[in-house]
Amino acid sequence: MSSAARGPQPHNLPTHLTSFVGRAQEVSDTRCLLASARLLTLTGAGGVGKTRLALQVAAEVLGNYSGGAWFIDLAPLHDGAFVPTAVAEVLAVNEEPPRPLVATLADVLGARSVLLVLDNCEHLVAACAELVDCLLCEGTVATESIGQPIQVDEHGAECFHPSRDKDRARVVRQDCAAPGVR
Ligand SMILES: Nc1ncnc2c1ncn2[C@@H]1O[C@H](COP(=O)(O)OP(=O)(O)OP(=O)(O)O)[C@@H](O)[C@H]1O
Ligand SMILES: [Mg+2]
Repeated sequence: MSSAARGPQPHNLPTHLTSFVGRAQEVSDTRCLLASARLLTLTGAGGVGKTRLALQVAAEVLGNYSGGAWFIDLAPLHDGAFVPTAVAEVLAVNEEPPRPLVATLADVLGARSVLLVLDNCEHLVAACAELVDCLLCEGTVATESIGQPIQVDEHGAECFHPSRDKDRARVVRQDCAAPGVR
């Protein structure tokens, strides 16, 4: 994978050597939910395509976020305390001691329209929820293998990967149809 500009909006979304195949319904469902919810969690078994789906959707909606779309892989992190640091590094936000980094991040993201893609959150769910709650940026797509979806008050919406679970796919579509879904 490598990074390449896809439009005027800044981003660090990795590009792929292979084309995105199929999954039109999943892309549509995810875009629909993201339009009405600030936080989506894509869950599913390992290798089912969560990251690829998140990146595809992020690339497609990038134009809606003037501050860009930012991919943060949390897999290498072992300590939830460093989730804000990982986000700040990608966004090139510097810590301003003695201010908490999260407060600086919240200011920066509050002033920009940004989409965050938090990849591999399963081992850091609580830390991710805490950060997302503080930031409440325009959009966040989180991916995680089977586990607890990130839920922050009323700002969360779950988007289960449909390819392995048809019943939950229907739930996604019902949520999409519901007005004001969060
Ligand atoms: N729609 C698709 N078109 C083409 N390739 C895909 C598609 N979905 C997934 N893949 C490929 O399948 C592989 C697994 O996908 P991906 O990494 O997104 O799974 P994942 O659910 O995020 O896995 P993990 O739980 O390990 O993070 C990757 O090589 C990815 O590029
Ligand atoms: Mg993944």
